Amino acid sequence: MTTQVTTPATRRLLVGEELADIRAQFPALEQSINGQPLSYLDSGATALRPNRVLDVERAFLATENAAVHRGAHELAARATVRFENARQAVADYVGAADPDTIVWTANATDALNLVATGIAGASRGRGAPASARLALQPGDEIVVTEAEHHANLIPWQELALATGAQLRWVAVRDDGTWGLDELDDVLTERTRIVAFSHVSNVTGLVAPVADVVERARRLGAVTVLDACQSAPHGSLDLDALGVDFAAFSGHKMLGPSGIGVLYGRAEMLAALPPARFGGSMITEVTMAGAEYLPAPHRFEAGTQPVSQAVALAEATRMLTEVGPDRVHAHEAALADRLLAGLAELDGIRVVGPARGIERGGLVSFVVDGIHAHDAGQFLDAQGVAVRVGHHCAQPLHRRLGVAATVRASFYLYSTPDEVDRLLSALVDTRTFFGGAA
Ligand SMILES: Cc1ncc(COP(=O)(O)O)c(C=O)c1O
Repeated sequence: MTTQVTTPATRRLLVGEELADIRAQFPALEQSINGQPLSYLDSGATALRPNRVLDVERAFLATENAAVHRGAHELAARATVRFENARQAVADYVGAADPDTIVWTANATDALNLVATGIAGASRGRGAPASARLALQPGDEIVVTEAEHHANLIPWQELALATGAQLRWVAVRDDGTWGLDELDDVLTERTRIVAFSHVSNVTGLVAPVADVVERARRLGAVTVLDACQSAPHGSLDLDALGVDFAAFSGHKMLGPSGIGVLYGRAEMLAALPPARFGGSMITEVTMAGAEYLPAPHRFEAGTQPVSQAVALAEATRMLTEVGPDRVHAHEAALADRLLAGLAELDGIRVVGPARGIERGGLVSFVVDGIHAHDAGQFLDAQGVAVRVGHHCAQPLHRRLGVAATVRASFYLYSTPDEVDRLLSALVDTRTFFGGAA
């Protein structure tokens, strides 16, 4: 496996006035929870929203809101420009040279379903001949990993059921990680789709994307990248990575909920049959049938999340101003601090890559003898907000032999002090539940 070792240079905290200015943008951080200042360590689930994003969305809604792409009036024209400029901003942020490779969806789950449902349509002959390259035959193989979020697993299970294709999965090791050896064990001449997360939302494992893409290409397979935990937390160059499709959600990257993105290489979006039908996605409709607009609009049926797109563009501007590499380095430093602290405590089992190996800005662990939900409640009582449960990755947890883990996840506004508060609250948790500290 290509493991990337982290160095002090790749782990660097945002500090001083800059960090204070960033935090001042987030009103949620000003509150106390259960009488304690909030330590929000659940950004992997959803990020806090900064004032500048809230302000931009509110201002747009207050004076510029209109349905896009159809009105003859000034407001509709302005809203359309803002909407399409937002598409350009998001394209720039994720390294997509062509804004038409960016499709608005409801969230990442919706984006992944759009691809799987579109391929099911192609397999039934919809959109042929252009879609023929995506069509699956019985016996073809779809490859995922055992560590996927359900959003990047169940759509492929359904696609396999619909087409007679076989779902295969990359086995994870005892610590929940996987590498190219495990991938090579499942790739065959019949592999047609390889769907995998860039950064695992449980283990933080960073997938060797370029190597996976190269192997998939050799087999003529389509690659689908779940970029939910990477797009918000570091620089992403989707064109350069060479993936065919990628998906991510606005709410995890300082933007609103209700909006996500499907990225697709131009020829892939041209081949993918649409999966939702109705207004705004057609050129011509008769009582017998309809012709569809080119991508991205053919995938955007119905009234669109316009204010959400405008706000998401503002979120990408904030992330760009701070610098995605610096966001990543900050989170890497926090994750390293937490890993170091956890190593000092008895009875903690961390899942995912060992300390010193590249990982996303999150750490999941099990506390011996204490159910994750009890730990979560105890931590909450001390103002420390973490995620507990299976994190929508039941097969991975089953493989790890646990029902649930505790997950702390960071963002650009997280601080070393919050990590230390988690660590000291964990010591108290162990004492409270009668374990060794
Ligand atoms: C890796 C990963 N994939 C997919 C999703 C689904 O995102 P959403 O619920 O915004 O569609 C998540 C959300 O937790 C995630 O972490």
